Amino acid sequence: MGLLDDRVAVVTGAGRGIGRAIAETFVREGAWVVINDVDAEPAEATRAACEAIRVGASIVCIGSVADRRDTDRLMQQAVDRFGQLDILVNNAGITRDRMSHKMTDEDWDLVLAVNLTGTFNCIRSTVPFMRDVAKRELAERGEVDRVRKVVNFFSTAAIRGNPGQANYTAAKMGNVGLTRTIAQEWGRFRICVNAVAPGFTETRLTAPKAPGEVLGVPEPLRQAALQRIPFRRFGTPEDIANVVLFLASPLSDYVTGQEINVSGGLQIP
Ligand SMILES: NC(=O)c1ccc[n+]([C@@H]2O[C@H](COP(=O)([O-])OP(=O)(O)OC[C@H]3O[C@@H](n4cnc5c(N)ncnc54)[C@H](O)[C@@H]3O)[C@@H](O)[C@H]2O)c1
Repeated sequence: MGLLDDRVAVVTGAGRGIGRAIAETFVREGAWVVINDVDAEPAEATRAACEAIRVGASIVCIGSVADRRDTDRLMQQAVDRFGQLDILVNNAGITRDRMSHKMTDEDWDLVLAVNLTGTFNCIRSTVPFMRDVAKRELAERGEVDRVRKVVNFFSTAAIRGNPGQANYTAAKMGNVGLTRTIAQEWGRFRICVNAVAPGFTETRLTAPKAPGEVLGVPEPLRQAALQRIPFRRFGTPEDIANVVLFLASPLSDYVTGQEINVSGGLQIP
Protein backbone atom coordinates (compact mmCIF):
# COMPACT_ATOMS: atom_id res chain seq x y z
CA MET A 1 0.00 0.00 0.00
CA GLY A 2 1.33 3.39 -1.01
CA LEU A 3 0.07 6.86 -0.13
CA LEU A 4 -0.67 7.51 -3.82
CA ASP A 5 -1.98 4.15 -5.00
CA ASP A 6 -3.98 4.56 -8.25
CA ARG A 7 -3.37 8.31 -8.41
CA VAL A 8 -2.22 9.92 -11.65
CA ALA A 9 0.18 12.85 -11.32
CA VAL A 10 1.78 15.38 -13.65
CA VAL A 11 5.09 16.77 -12.37
CA THR A 12 6.51 19.68 -14.35
CA GLY A 13 10.26 20.27 -14.55
CA ALA A 14 10.81 16.69 -13.40
CA GLY A 15 14.04 16.17 -15.35
CA ARG A 16 16.25 17.46 -12.57
CA GLY A 17 16.53 18.41 -8.92
CA ILE A 18 13.39 18.65 -6.85
CA GLY A 19 11.03 17.60 -9.66
CA ARG A 20 12.96 14.39 -10.24
CA ALA A 21 12.84 13.58 -6.52
CA ILE A 22 9.08 14.19 -6.55
CA ALA A 23 8.55 11.88 -9.54
CA GLU A 24 10.56 9.08 -7.91
CA THR A 25 8.81 9.54 -4.54
CA PHE A 26 5.39 9.46 -6.19
CA VAL A 27 6.18 6.28 -8.13
CA ARG A 28 7.50 4.66 -4.94
CA GLU A 29 4.16 5.54 -3.29
CA GLY A 30 2.11 3.88 -6.03
CA ALA A 31 1.32 6.76 -8.42
CA TRP A 32 1.36 6.87 -12.22
CA VAL A 33 3.51 9.83 -13.17
CA VAL A 34 3.86 12.03 -16.24
CA ILE A 35 7.36 13.50 -16.27
CA ASN A 36 7.41 16.89 -17.98
CA ASP A 37 10.48 18.97 -18.83
CA VAL A 38 11.77 21.19 -21.63
CA ASP A 39 14.91 19.06 -21.81
CA ALA A 40 14.47 15.52 -23.14
CA GLU A 41 17.68 13.95 -21.87
CA PRO A 42 17.24 14.56 -18.14
CA ALA A 43 13.52 13.74 -18.43
CA GLU A 44 14.43 10.34 -19.89
CA ALA A 45 16.91 9.85 -17.03
CA THR A 46 14.12 10.49 -14.53
CA ARG A 47 11.93 8.00 -16.37
CA ALA A 48 14.70 5.38 -16.21
CA ALA A 49 14.98 5.95 -12.44
CA CYS A 50 11.19 5.62 -12.07
CA GLU A 51 11.21 2.50 -14.23
CA ALA A 52 13.72 0.94 -11.83
CA ILE A 53 11.24 1.53 -9.01
CA ARG A 54 8.12 0.29 -10.83
CA VAL A 55 7.94 -0.84 -14.44
CA GLY A 56 5.53 1.16 -16.62
CA ALA A 57 4.70 3.70 -13.92
CA SER A 58 5.82 6.78 -15.81
CA ILE A 59 5.91 8.45 -19.20
CA VAL A 60 7.72 11.53 -20.49
CA CYS A 61 6.03 14.54 -22.07
CA ILE A 62 8.46 17.15 -23.37
CA GLY A 63 7.23 20.74 -23.60
CA SER A 64 7.38 24.17 -22.00
CA VAL A 65 4.97 25.17 -19.25
CA ALA A 66 5.20 28.67 -20.71
CA ASP A 67 3.30 27.49 -23.80
CA ARG A 68 -0.42 26.90 -23.38
CA ARG A 69 -0.47 24.39 -26.27
CA ASP A 70 2.21 22.32 -24.54
CA THR A 71 0.37 22.32 -21.20
CA ASP A 72 -2.90 21.31 -22.89
CA ARG A 73 -1.06 18.44 -24.57
CA LEU A 74 0.61 17.49 -21.27
CA MET A 75 -2.66 17.04 -19.37
CA GLN A 76 -4.31 15.30 -22.33
CA GLN A 77 -1.41 12.85 -22.53
CA ALA A 78 -1.77 12.01 -18.82
CA VAL A 79 -5.43 11.12 -19.34
CA ASP A 80 -4.84 9.29 -22.62
CA ARG A 81 -2.16 7.11 -21.04
CA PHE A 82 -3.44 6.62 -17.49
CA GLY A 83 -7.17 7.35 -17.78
CA GLN A 84 -7.49 10.22 -15.29
CA LEU A 85 -5.64 13.12 -13.66
CA ASP A 86 -5.56 13.60 -9.89
CA ILE A 87 -2.43 15.56 -8.99
CA LEU A 88 -0.63 18.49 -10.61
CA VAL A 89 2.75 19.58 -9.25
CA ASN A 90 3.84 22.94 -10.68
CA ASN A 91 7.54 22.49 -9.99
CA ALA A 92 9.15 23.82 -13.21
CA GLY A 93 11.22 26.91 -12.52
CA ILE A 94 14.12 28.92 -13.84
CA THR A 95 16.31 31.83 -12.73
CA ARG A 96 18.02 34.66 -14.62
CA ASP A 97 19.61 36.62 -11.78
CA ARG A 98 20.71 40.21 -12.31
CA MET A 99 20.38 43.40 -10.32
CA SER A 100 17.24 45.28 -11.33
CA HIS A 101 19.04 48.21 -12.96
CA LYS A 102 20.73 45.75 -15.33
CA MET A 103 17.81 43.39 -15.90
CA THR A 104 16.80 42.97 -19.54
CA ASP A 105 13.27 42.50 -20.88
CA GLU A 106 14.30 38.95 -21.84
CA ASP A 107 15.41 38.12 -18.27
CA TRP A 108 12.14 39.46 -16.89
CA ASP A 109 9.85 37.89 -19.47
CA LEU A 110 11.40 34.41 -19.40
CA VAL A 111 11.35 34.12 -15.62
CA LEU A 112 7.75 35.37 -15.36
CA ALA A 113 6.66 33.14 -18.25
CA VAL A 114 8.05 29.94 -16.73
CA ASN A 115 7.58 30.49 -12.99
CA LEU A 116 4.23 32.31 -12.96
CA THR A 117 2.41 32.03 -16.28
CA GLY A 118 3.59 28.41 -16.43
CA THR A 119 1.79 27.66 -13.17
CA PHE A 120 -1.39 29.27 -14.43
CA ASN A 121 -1.17 27.55 -17.83
CA CYS A 122 -0.91 24.15 -16.16
CA ILE A 123 -3.74 24.82 -13.74
CA ARG A 124 -6.02 25.98 -16.56
CA SER A 125 -5.07 23.01 -18.74
CA THR A 126 -6.26 20.62 -15.99
CA VAL A 127 -9.78 22.12 -15.95
CA PRO A 128 -11.50 19.46 -18.12
CA PHE A 129 -9.80 16.63 -16.21
CA MET A 130 -9.88 17.84 -12.62
CA ARG A 131 -12.39 20.66 -11.99
CA ASP A 132 -15.00 19.54 -14.52
CA VAL A 133 -14.74 15.85 -13.57
CA ALA A 134 -15.10 16.68 -9.86
CA LYS A 135 -18.09 18.90 -10.64
CA ARG A 136 -19.75 16.06 -12.53
CA GLU A 137 -19.11 13.59 -9.71
CA LEU A 138 -20.70 15.99 -7.21
CA ALA A 139 -23.74 16.52 -9.45
CA GLU A 140 -24.25 12.78 -10.00
CA ARG A 141 -23.43 11.36 -6.57
CA GLY A 142 -23.10 14.27 -4.15
CA GLU A 143 -19.45 13.40 -3.51
CA VAL A 144 -16.16 13.25 -5.38
CA ASP A 145 -14.33 9.99 -6.12
CA ARG A 146 -11.17 11.45 -4.63
CA VAL A 147 -9.84 14.75 -3.39
CA ARG A 148 -7.67 16.11 -6.19
CA LYS A 149 -4.50 18.12 -5.59
CA VAL A 150 -2.53 21.02 -6.99
CA VAL A 151 0.87 21.82 -5.46
CA ASN A 152 2.50 25.10 -6.51
CA PHE A 153 6.02 26.35 -5.85
CA PHE A 154 7.27 29.59 -4.41
CA SER A 155 10.44 30.31 -2.45
CA THR A 156 11.79 31.56 0.86
CA ALA A 157 13.95 33.93 -1.21
CA ALA A 158 10.73 35.46 -2.51
CA ILE A 159 9.28 35.88 0.98
CA ARG A 160 12.44 37.60 2.26
CA GLY A 161 13.23 39.48 -0.95
CA ASN A 162 16.53 38.71 -2.63
CA PRO A 163 18.84 41.20 -4.38
CA GLY A 164 19.37 40.13 -7.99
CA GLN A 165 16.07 38.26 -8.20
CA ALA A 166 13.39 40.90 -8.86
CA ASN A 167 11.99 38.76 -11.68
CA TYR A 168 12.09 35.48 -9.75
CA THR A 169 10.75 36.81 -6.44
CA ALA A 170 7.89 38.63 -8.20
CA ALA A 171 6.96 35.47 -10.09
CA LYS A 172 7.17 33.23 -7.04
CA MET A 173 5.05 35.53 -4.85
CA GLY A 174 2.56 35.61 -7.72
CA ASN A 175 2.19 31.88 -7.18
CA VAL A 176 1.07 32.56 -3.60
CA GLY A 177 -1.76 34.75 -4.89
CA LEU A 178 -2.66 32.12 -7.47
CA THR A 179 -2.67 29.40 -4.83
CA ARG A 180 -4.97 31.30 -2.48
CA THR A 181 -7.34 32.28 -5.30
CA ILE A 182 -7.63 28.90 -7.03
CA ALA A 183 -8.05 27.24 -3.62
CA GLN A 184 -11.14 29.40 -3.10
CA GLU A 185 -12.45 28.90 -6.65
CA TRP A 186 -12.03 25.11 -6.51
CA GLY A 187 -12.74 24.35 -2.85
CA ARG A 188 -16.34 23.47 -3.70
CA PHE A 189 -15.01 20.83 -6.07
CA ARG A 190 -12.84 19.33 -3.29
CA ILE A 191 -9.62 20.22 -5.06
CA CYS A 192 -6.83 21.18 -2.66
CA VAL A 193 -4.46 23.89 -3.86
CA ASN A 194 -1.39 24.52 -1.73
CA ALA A 195 2.13 25.88 -2.15
CA VAL A 196 5.58 24.85 -0.99
CA ALA A 197 8.48 27.25 -0.48
CA PRO A 198 11.79 25.41 -0.58
CA GLY A 199 14.59 27.07 1.30
CA PHE A 200 18.12 26.79 -0.07
CA THR A 201 18.05 23.34 -1.70
CA GLU A 202 21.00 21.64 -3.45
CA THR A 203 20.15 21.59 -7.18
CA ARG A 204 21.64 23.18 -10.30
CA LEU A 205 19.79 26.43 -9.43
CA THR A 206 21.88 26.77 -6.27
CA ALA A 207 25.12 25.05 -7.31
CA PRO A 208 28.30 27.16 -7.05
CA LYS A 209 28.15 29.60 -9.93
CA ALA A 210 31.10 29.53 -12.30
CA PRO A 211 32.04 32.78 -14.08
CA GLY A 212 29.91 33.31 -17.19
CA GLU A 213 27.21 30.79 -16.20
CA VAL A 214 23.55 31.85 -16.08
CA LEU A 215 22.42 29.49 -13.32
CA GLY A 216 23.87 28.99 -9.84
CA VAL A 217 24.81 31.08 -6.79
CA PRO A 218 28.24 32.61 -6.09
CA GLU A 219 30.03 30.68 -3.32
CA PRO A 220 30.15 33.58 -0.80
CA LEU A 221 26.36 33.92 -1.08
CA ARG A 222 25.96 30.16 -0.60
CA GLN A 223 27.97 30.33 2.60
CA ALA A 224 26.00 33.36 3.85
CA ALA A 225 22.77 31.45 3.18
CA LEU A 226 24.05 28.45 5.14
CA GLN A 227 24.70 30.63 8.20
CA ARG A 228 21.03 31.71 8.25
CA ILE A 229 19.76 28.10 8.40
CA PRO A 230 19.38 26.79 11.98
CA PHE A 231 19.94 23.22 10.73
CA ARG A 232 23.29 24.35 9.23
CA ARG A 233 22.76 22.29 6.11
CA PHE A 234 21.17 22.95 2.76
CA GLY A 235 17.99 21.14 1.86
CA THR A 236 17.96 18.08 -0.36
CA PRO A 237 15.46 17.50 -3.18
CA GLU A 238 14.07 14.62 -1.06
CA ASP A 239 13.36 17.03 1.85
CA ILE A 240 11.08 18.97 -0.46
CA ALA A 241 9.59 15.91 -2.20
CA ASN A 242 8.42 14.49 1.14
CA VAL A 243 6.34 17.60 1.90
CA VAL A 244 4.97 17.64 -1.65
CA LEU A 245 3.99 13.99 -1.06
CA PHE A 246 2.05 15.02 2.04
CA LEU A 247 0.22 17.74 0.07
CA ALA A 248 -0.51 15.31 -2.80
CA SER A 249 -1.74 12.50 -0.58
CA PRO A 250 -5.00 11.88 1.31
CA LEU A 251 -3.18 12.88 4.53
CA SER A 252 -3.85 16.51 3.58
CA ASP A 253 -7.41 16.19 2.24
CA TYR A 254 -8.68 19.05 4.45
CA VAL A 255 -5.71 21.38 3.83
CA THR A 256 -6.12 24.00 1.10
CA GLY A 257 -4.97 27.52 0.31
CA GLN A 258 -1.89 27.09 2.51
CA GLU A 259 1.82 27.73 2.15
CA ILE A 260 4.54 25.59 3.77
CA ASN A 261 8.21 26.57 4.05
CA VAL A 262 10.63 23.64 3.82
CA SER A 263 13.82 25.36 4.83
CA GLY A 264 15.53 23.86 7.88
CA GLY A 265 14.06 26.65 9.99
CA LEU A 266 15.37 29.59 7.97
CA GLN A 267 14.27 32.75 9.76
CA ILE A 268 12.33 35.12 7.55
CA PRO A 269 12.64 38.68 8.82
N1 LIG B 1 16.78 24.88 -5.37
C1 LIG B 1 16.33 25.77 -4.52
O1 LIG B 1 17.04 26.18 -3.59
C2 LIG B 1 14.95 26.32 -4.66
C3 LIG B 1 14.51 27.23 -3.71
C4 LIG B 1 13.22 27.75 -3.81
C5 LIG B 1 12.39 27.35 -4.84
N2 LIG B 1 12.86 26.46 -5.76
C6 LIG B 1 11.93 26.08 -6.82
O2 LIG B 1 11.86 24.67 -6.89
C7 LIG B 1 11.51 24.27 -8.22
C8 LIG B 1 12.48 23.23 -8.73
O3 LIG B 1 13.76 23.83 -8.86
P1 LIG B 1 15.14 23.00 -8.80
O4 LIG B 1 15.96 23.66 -7.78
O5 LIG B 1 14.88 21.55 -8.73
O6 LIG B 1 15.74 23.44 -10.23
P2 LIG B 1 16.41 22.56 -11.41
O7 LIG B 1 16.99 23.55 -12.34
O8 LIG B 1 17.29 21.51 -10.83
O9 LIG B 1 15.15 21.84 -12.06
C9 LIG B 1 14.15 22.58 -12.70
C10 LIG B 1 13.69 21.82 -13.94
O10 LIG B 1 12.68 22.62 -14.59
C11 LIG B 1 12.88 22.50 -15.99
N3 LIG B 1 12.29 23.61 -16.70
C12 LIG B 1 12.79 24.87 -16.88
N4 LIG B 1 11.99 25.59 -17.65
C13 LIG B 1 10.93 24.80 -17.97
C14 LIG B 1 9.77 24.99 -18.75
N5 LIG B 1 9.54 26.15 -19.38
N6 LIG B 1 8.88 23.97 -18.86
C15 LIG B 1 9.13 22.77 -18.27
N7 LIG B 1 10.23 22.54 -17.51
C16 LIG B 1 11.12 23.54 -17.37
C17 LIG B 1 14.39 22.47 -16.15
O11 LIG B 1 14.80 21.94 -17.42
C18 LIG B 1 14.82 21.60 -14.97
O12 LIG B 1 14.93 20.25 -15.33
C19 LIG B 1 11.51 25.57 -9.04
O13 LIG B 1 10.20 26.07 -9.15
C20 LIG B 1 12.36 26.49 -8.22
O14 LIG B 1 12.10 27.84 -8.47
C21 LIG B 1 14.11 25.94 -5.70
